[in-house]
Amino acid sequence: MKNRILTGVKPTGHSHVGNYFGAIKPAIEFTKQQEDECFYFIADYHALTTLKNKQEMQEYTYDIACTWLACGVDPNKVVFYRQSNVPETFELNWILCNVTPKGLMNRAHAYKACVEKNEAAGEDRDAGVNMGLYNYPILMAADIILFDSDFVPVGLDQKQHVEIARDIADYFNRKFGKTLKLPEPYIQKETATLVGLDGRKMSKSYGNTIGLFTTEEQLRKSINRIVTDSRMPGEPKDTDCPLFKLYSLFAGEEKSQEFAKKLQEGLGWGEAKKQLFEVANEYLKPMREKYFYYQSHRDEVDKILEEGAAKARIIARKTLARVRKAIGVE
Ligand code: TRP
Repeated sequence: MKNRILTGVKPTGHSHVGNYFGAIKPAIEFTKQQEDECFYFIADYHALTTLKNKQEMQEYTYDIACTWLACGVDPNKVVFYRQSNVPETFELNWILCNVTPKGLMNRAHAYKACVEKNEAAGEDRDAGVNMGLYNYPILMAADIILFDSDFVPVGLDQKQHVEIARDIADYFNRKFGKTLKLPEPYIQKETATLVGLDGRKMSKSYGNTIGLFTTEEQLRKSINRIVTDSRMPGEPKDTDCPLFKLYSLFAGEEKSQEFAKKLQEGLGWGEAKKQLFEVANEYLKPMREKYFYYQSHRDEVDKILEEGAAKARIIARKTLARVRKAIGVE
């Protein structure tokens, strides 16, 4: 039996180079390497907990779809769909609500973080918390359980959510008999250091990102903002710096070693930035072209996502039928 691998991506804004090397690229390579069945989806109804704007919802959803397609998701190999196109998710969500102890939700990280922030600010503990945010882990459990997923590749920040999904499936099975598969988180090791322009981890909240699909000019501007020390051309440079780390993400092993040598021999920072721009642009250009192609052919994107949802729903309906039977609603 093939394993089922499933993961969701929340549409929350444009992807950056750190997202690409940290999550998108490994997820896509994963689908090429092995025989398992992969389900990758856009978690638009999860984004609704924070996104309350029609235009943004639409833009961010297309952005994720075009990004993943441009980066190489193959819809013939991967079931690639939009969560909102699979209504079975929301029926299962409701059913799962009824086996989920409220206390389990109280302990979920995202909710707890909001409560702690509110308490620290002397506000009501539930200020700004909507039920979508509170129930977020149950919807995520529904996403996962609906496809009898074996493994869920996620970053460490999402590990608890997958464990909650496993607990919820287990609660269901104890009450209604063994019906649901218990999923496991699959935590990918960080293979690269994903530093931003200032040397801290690349993150939107630090404002130190390089956009994945910007124009060439914007890419050049971002690279020019990379923080360097004050060593002059001719002086040897340390390769333990953001500029070199970024270079080595884009260039192969061999090219990076040559670049390290040039820095040690005194290559000036200005020239080094030009060379980084060259390798980054060469790397991103073909993907950028595809991204803008899809952005201007959204009907094709819709079709891909609809076909993905149609495939997904064949499986979803079967699981849901099993669940309805188990609870006595047929
Ligand atoms: N919560 C995940 C995140 O914020 C996105 C997500 C939604 C997801 N449903 C999922 C991830 C199911 C894995 C499986 O990144």
